[in-house]
Amino acid sequence: MSTAPATHGPVVTTRQGRVALILADNPPVNALAQPVREGLLRAVQEAAADPAVDALAIACEGRTFFAGAEIREFGKPPVPPGLGEVLDAIEACPKPVVAAIHGTALGGGFELALACHARIADAKAAVGLPEVKLGIIPGAGGTQRVPRLAGPVAALEMIASGRHVRAEEARRLGLIDAVAESDLRAEAVELARSLVGRPPRRTGELPVPAFDPAAFDAAAAAVAAKARSQVSPIRAIEAVRLTAGGAGIREGLAAERAIFRELVGSDQAKALRYAFFSEREVQRVPHLQGVAPRQVDVVGVIGAGTMGAGIAVALLDAGLRVVVTETSIEAVGAGWDRISGLYGRAMKSGRIDQAKRDERLSRLSVTDDFAELAACDLVIEAAFEDMAVKQEIFGRLGSVARPGATLATNTSYLDVDAIGRASGRPEDVIGLHFFSPANIMRLVEVVEGAASAKDAVATGVALAKRMGKLPVTCGVCDGFVGNRILATWRQQTDFALEDGALPQEVDAALERYGFAMGPFAVADLAGLDIGWARRKRLAPTRDPGRRYGGTVADRLCAMGRFGQKTGAGYYRYVDGKRQVDPEVTRLVEDVSAELGRERRPFDPNAMVRHVRAAMVNEGAKILAEGVVPRALDIDMVLLHGYGFPAWRGGPMFEADAIGLATILADMRELHALSGPGWEPAPLLVELAEKGGTFAGYSRTPG
Ligand code: 3HC
Repeated sequence: MSTAPATHGPVVTTRQGRVALILADNPPVNALAQPVREGLLRAVQEAAADPAVDALAIACEGRTFFAGAEIREFGKPPVPPGLGEVLDAIEACPKPVVAAIHGTALGGGFELALACHARIADAKAAVGLPEVKLGIIPGAGGTQRVPRLAGPVAALEMIASGRHVRAEEARRLGLIDAVAESDLRAEAVELARSLVGRPPRRTGELPVPAFDPAAFDAAAAAVAAKARSQVSPIRAIEAVRLTAGGAGIREGLAAERAIFRELVGSDQAKALRYAFFSEREVQRVPHLQGVAPRQVDVVGVIGAGTMGAGIAVALLDAGLRVVVTETSIEAVGAGWDRISGLYGRAMKSGRIDQAKRDERLSRLSVTDDFAELAACDLVIEAAFEDMAVKQEIFGRLGSVARPGATLATNTSYLDVDAIGRASGRPEDVIGLHFFSPANIMRLVEVVEGAASAKDAVATGVALAKRMGKLPVTCGVCDGFVGNRILATWRQQTDFALEDGALPQEVDAALERYGFAMGPFAVADLAGLDIGWARRKRLAPTRDPGRRYGGTVADRLCAMGRFGQKTGAGYYRYVDGKRQVDPEVTRLVEDVSAELGRERRPFDPNAMVRHVRAAMVNEGAKILAEGVVPRALDIDMVLLHGYGFPAWRGGPMFEADAIGLATILADMRELHALSGPGWEPAPLLVELAEKGGTFAGYSRTPG
């Protein structure tokens, strides 16, 4: 006997024999918005009460199982039913309920699956509790039910990292019961049928499996160390510890909910929600809307150094055919080794297998014949960072590349317009600024030259997305968005050394602020020689009226201390371990004396305020110049390429949150200490005086 489907808003129930198949459809990702929660609750209640139904299966239409709570509802008054109420109804249902997972079951979506009595997932599916990345903890039982299935140690790792767990691993951990072989929904219905007549296995009623308390404490300590000042992972430990300690499900759920409620309104959660939506918004470039990118199948890379090799790997990983050119047969061999070496490392770490490596390398050719670039739809030049070198290459590329091919330079500082002119076809030329290591780092600055055709820029954006990267489009200026801001705030840390600080004090202060690594430790890792060469190059044109700040770095380089690779830089390295070096302390103090700067007791808070003000001030100039149209563009560059703590949202977001009048006061203080060149940016002054914000700013065209 067939019955008509029952519809409750976005939720429809059909009958498969005596199994009710409940299907939700809320594009694009089936977020558990209020109408979905209400529809699910009614569908479950009806099926539970229907004598013609023996079991239930819950599945989703579209590209994924529920991707979690509707994030846009956070911070607004809750409209019932709450997710907890829906999940309680599912878990309490006297008939077996099976979750059929495809795509990604995340956050509240996975919590819903955990409240079901069994879970089956598509082989390609993944599950996860990414709430900590939104500054919250799971709020619908994740911290209580995952430990009951996978044990508290695995649960803590999963919840504190927010990582996606693939179906097969989830099965091994006990988080799902089966991986579907071919037809997920049919197999879910079959599983539900097979459970009829048995008492439902309610996750909330299961005992926590035996575990090693010392392993839990070690995992908790590792989470706390990694979290630094981010609150949500620490609070997640608290919630999981409660279950581990034997709390009942009701007590655990209430405690989890209380932490969730407390965190959801916190500044960190607000900043992380902003970061989440901005990460998506930044890819919608206002003036490129509706511009179709050019077709790209084959990509050329000029230069197989560290950067070129990384870019080639990222392109191969994205399924493209790649032609890499080098200048000699020896360099071709070294380039091939570098690229296959990167795959060797990926294999060692288990990221790819031999078959994948072979397939990817089969799409690569490395050649010393520049003319082979004629076959490419887009060419990325990753040669030495020198204008004359790049102009010479683009001169040749302009005639070799086929008409309509897009020509990109991976410069990090140089003028893309001047490089474009050298090609004779500047409309085809853009910048694609990758970050090292290019096969890992997500950010790409897509640089639009004054003459770049819109579809060439759109091609750069589309290619970066295809490579799984985050493209941020910007105009031409020295250092573009990221390096320009970096250069500014790094000068403040250099000044701090001259005024009384030591490298380890500056690093510790900025790590407390949230950077993964302090700037001097980063400098040692990257190598001090590149900056030294640049400072020497710029020396003849440096304004003598401006404070310099590079003396300590220059002295270190003159001593051959180029950082970690030479065993010494701002620190010394013993067996690869970073140590404070008394010789550097002496050197820093000597430099202060020579420059006639009084060394005052280091005030970490003042330095952090100055670093932030310097970033924001430069950001204000970048906005006013129209290098990017929105403050969120700047924030996304800093978050994804420069280790700025995501839970602060970005410097521009944080400045708005603190209040621009305060930032302006910090900037004035900084100006007094740092002298000419450090005047507050007119836009900062204007917005601060009017009570405006960067988020509300939009530049008048022209
Ligand atoms: N709420 C609201 N909107 C969401 C959303 C959510 N949970 N997840 C995604 N979206 C929106 C995105 O903003 C985007 O909107 P746009 O098209 O207007 O920009 C659209 O859905 C598509 O998202 P993506 O561009 O990210 O699509 P992808 O296919 O690349 O990725 C995804 C899909 C993996 C599901 C990814 O969107 C994602 O990771 N989403 C967030 C998942 C998450 O954090 N869930 C936990 C929420 S908190 C929670 O559940 C609390 C609970 O414990 C009580």
